[in-house]
Amino acid sequence: MATTKELLTARYGKDTGIGDGSVVSEKIEALLARRSVRLYKDEPVSDELLDVLIGCAQSAPSKSNLQQYSIIVVKDQGVRDQLAPWCPRTTGLESKPALLVFCADIRRNQRIGEFRNRPNVNNNMDAFLNATVDAALAMGFFVTAAEAAGLGTAPLSSLRDNMYAVADILEMPDGVFPIAGVMAGWPEAPGYVNQRLPQSVVVHRDRYDDSNLEAGIDDYDQTRNAAFPIPAERQTRTDLWGVAEFYGWSEHISRQLGKPERPEFKAFLQSHGFDLD
Ligand SMILES: Cc1cc2nc3c(=O)[nH]c(=O)nc-3n(C[C@H](O)[C@H](O)[C@H](O)COP(=O)(O)O)c2cc1C
Repeated sequence: MATTKELLTARYGKDTGIGDGSVVSEKIEALLARRSVRLYKDEPVSDELLDVLIGCAQSAPSKSNLQQYSIIVVKDQGVRDQLAPWCPRTTGLESKPALLVFCADIRRNQRIGEFRNRPNVNNNMDAFLNATVDAALAMGFFVTAAEAAGLGTAPLSSLRDNMYAVADILEMPDGVFPIAGVMAGWPEAPGYVNQRLPQSVVVHRDRYDDSNLEAGIDDYDQTRNAAFPIPAERQTRTDLWGVAEFYGWSEHISRQLGKPERPEFKAFLQSHGFDLD
């Protein structure tokens, strides 16, 4: 068992003064050491295990227990082969040992209102947000449970890169959209702990205060760069912004967010049963 200081030092990339020589429960250790894993052994994940992990996903909190999400387990090779070309950012999507798609779903409760003869007057922004949060929590619980079972996992927003095609292939009706996929399998390699922003940037005491943001981000950029330098050839969008001499996390995400991502998303939702009022 690792100490909290060791675990938190890995999480933040340096000793931030948090944690000490004590050990914590295995569950907390697993959370502090969690990481995405994208390379898997060529071994199946059994349906029985997936069923248990989906039970864990369903154990997540849910707004008013409305349970506004659905999970599509994609096993059929034909369906996977159709999906893969629409998710080119994820190499070999069709052959991941397990592939699930977590969906926000306001349709089920609309249908329940119909057969209970009650009007559902809540197709609005709040419903969209609640369903998205429910689906995200379920996904988070699935990932945590899968990792506790020894699987490696990674969420996949690449499933949203071509939403119209993905929704068609998975026959998603109005009121349902994919928040993300999750791939899972038995790890080929252990992955690594990806450093997080310092608590001084993320945590506010009693009131929001980001007056030290720039210094905190500079610090994070330097700490990350010491462990995970990004080589020039992996800098993003050099066509727009050139090659940076120092390319830290903040430069990376600024470049990413400097170009529209999924500008068609709102139109997709509005044409697929979400009023967003
Ligand atoms: C909603 C969501 C979508 C994501 N989409 C992708 C993806 O399309 N491809 C991928 O390789 N990783 C994806 N990830 C994983 C993140 O890249 C990863 O969580 C992040 O870099 C932090 O690394 P860690 O999970 O190892 O701590 C996604 C994560 C989330 C929460």
